[in-house]
Amino acid sequence: MAVKVKDNFFSIETRNTLYQMKTDEYGVLYHLWYGEKTGCRMDYLLDYPDVGFSGSPYDAGNRRDYSLDTLPLEYAASGAGDFRVSAVSVTHGDGSTALDLRFREYRLTKGKYSIPGLPAVYAGEDEAETLEIVLGDRASGVEVTLRYGVLERIDVITRSAVIVNAGKDAVTVNSAHSLCLDIPAGDWEWVHFHGRHNMERQVERVPLIHGIQECGSRRGTSSHQQNPSVILCERSCTESAGLCIGAALMYSGGFQACIEKDQLNQVRLVMGIQPDTFSWRLEAGESFYTPEAILSCSAEGMGRLSQQFHSVIRNHVCRGKYKLAERPVLINNWEATYFHFDEGKIIEIARQASELGIDMLVLDDGWFGERDSDNSGLGDWFVNEKKLKGGLQNLITQVNRMGMKFGLWFEPEAVSEESRLYREHPDWAIQIPGREPVRGRYQLILDLSNPAVTDYLYQVISKILEENHIEYVKWDMNRSICDWYTAGLPGTRQMEMPHRYVLGLYSLLERLTEDFPEVLFEGCSGGGGRFDAGMLYYCPQIWCSDDTDAYERCFIQYGTSFFYPVSAVGSHVSAVPNHQTGRTTPLKTRGIVAMAGSFGYELDLNCLTGEEKAEVAEQVRKYKGYRRLIHDGRYYRLSNPFADGMSAWSWVSEDRKQALVQGVIFRAVPNSLRRRVRLTGLDGEAHYRDRESGAVYTGAALMSGGILLPWTRGDDAAFEVYLEREG
Ligand code: GLA
Repeated sequence: MAVKVKDNFFSIETRNTLYQMKTDEYGVLYHLWYGEKTGCRMDYLLDYPDVGFSGSPYDAGNRRDYSLDTLPLEYAASGAGDFRVSAVSVTHGDGSTALDLRFREYRLTKGKYSIPGLPAVYAGEDEAETLEIVLGDRASGVEVTLRYGVLERIDVITRSAVIVNAGKDAVTVNSAHSLCLDIPAGDWEWVHFHGRHNMERQVERVPLIHGIQECGSRRGTSSHQQNPSVILCERSCTESAGLCIGAALMYSGGFQACIEKDQLNQVRLVMGIQPDTFSWRLEAGESFYTPEAILSCSAEGMGRLSQQFHSVIRNHVCRGKYKLAERPVLINNWEATYFHFDEGKIIEIARQASELGIDMLVLDDGWFGERDSDNSGLGDWFVNEKKLKGGLQNLITQVNRMGMKFGLWFEPEAVSEESRLYREHPDWAIQIPGREPVRGRYQLILDLSNPAVTDYLYQVISKILEENHIEYVKWDMNRSICDWYTAGLPGTRQMEMPHRYVLGLYSLLERLTEDFPEVLFEGCSGGGGRFDAGMLYYCPQIWCSDDTDAYERCFIQYGTSFFYPVSAVGSHVSAVPNHQTGRTTPLKTRGIVAMAGSFGYELDLNCLTGEEKAEVAEQVRKYKGYRRLIHDGRYYRLSNPFADGMSAWSWVSEDRKQALVQGVIFRAVPNSLRRRVRLTGLDGEAHYRDRESGAVYTGAALMSGGILLPWTRGDDAAFEVYLEREG
């Protein structure tokens, strides 16, 4: 058993980590430890300084050294003497907001809990345990159940909370975070992943300041601007050494991650639904379930931490037929044609692609309604016969005859005012009566909190999927959401809508993915604007960024790799000069960068020279050969592109028999030594042969001396070394 409980002392041991809590004589639940295993009760670290102006609970009598404001708490409530950032805040029927949570009971069960209406890590009875700890407010009927899912073998602990109104009067939940984590004073830094459209998940690592540092989204989606994932690490932590704790929220709506360094240098992280766009009324007897946060800890640096997240997301978050299956190599027509295509053009692209070994044609935006530009047509999910004569069926038959699968783009959540759907159901679009709505990419968003809307979307999409042989769906979503208002809720409850929207989205995705298990769903939101573990529960891959420039992608994919597995990353080779940056990078580089993901092309292959086509065919062949290693192997970051002038990464197979090292050197430097990178994860005692040069090295040499990279010429030059264990 990973979870041991004795006299209200809770000890969770995973393979390499330890998480401890206990209650004290007042029933307050402390957080004692999350870190490497110590073989010890960590409550000896508790300290009770005499801190003035911090306040003591009434039942602590005259103790001046007992304050909820300074103790490490497992789930901090607001308004009752802990003045730090809180995990939960409610307004009671009388308008007061204090909440003083004390221990009531605990439950321990086999397997992993699930969460009604929300995605959650899943695991078999033999793979996980669930611990639930019930806390209750001393004066009201509010209860909080803390839930822990322990995946011992992969060093993962999930967290979520249930807020229960066991009282007689309704209460309003103002905030309910999934996770609260108090960690001892130390030299802590945090890493977060910020960005913008075309530049997602840039890595920023900074020391903590006293006070609150925060990342989050108020955009209704998890966003391009901040990813719902953070790392707390010791200053000395590197890729391969040092302590770090990662947290990823499994949620696709607005989120908040707050880190407070308090007056005593102690650190608290809370993470969950964004409170600024949230409020939830709980009638007597009702419960509110927070989304899940996935936690993992590594005492061996960030490389290990990432692998733990890759493992839980790939094996316990992603689902369905394609979860572990080889993903088809696809050709997407977006950058090849944008809105301007007809059936003949698409067939030409497909024919050329099939000749080069590509598995699937994806027809992107523009195939439906009056969609000739981005200001009309969204919502009209019926084929545009002016462009596609003979309809979808005819096109799909022709594509299938070439031996290729067919995939289709949708943006189900959006509606153009210039559309039949909007004319028929203007009330289905999110807007506030009497106020002009904000447009984003000229479009509005449908009210997914309204079941009539999700039912309608289910009907139209499932009809298309039933009537046509569609093997892939690209599920796009191209704007942030504001103007929150729904006719379905009274005025006092409008701020339930952002979360209800996400619940509506998840219910729709659940129905469709369940009813069409053969279809590969790829998530997308203006590229990687909704790249989170919530979406990965429904879509095992997500288009990583609209920026397909190979140089830029080195940074975007580097940032993405801290939490998300390579198989989740949609990445394509596109034309040069690149459409987003105007940069020209070699075809080899574009191929190698796109291979570090779920691979495809996004250009008109007919425009390539014969030589380039041959290179594409070779890339496809190579990717198919490496595909298993790339998706199933352990992924290592071998350089930091933000600091090292190059990006290098590798995969090592589980049995450590094969290793593939790839990367890009950004600038050519004359008269210089060859670059050297140290490999990781090899068998130190084994011998490895470089397939290209035939040279043989020991694993130990490759890991400490490193490997000399091949000579490259020109900027943004890619390299690749494939090593096989001898014997
Ligand atoms: C978004 C997506 C692109 C493409 C366009 C189509 O920007 O990220 O890949 O599908 O929409 O409009």
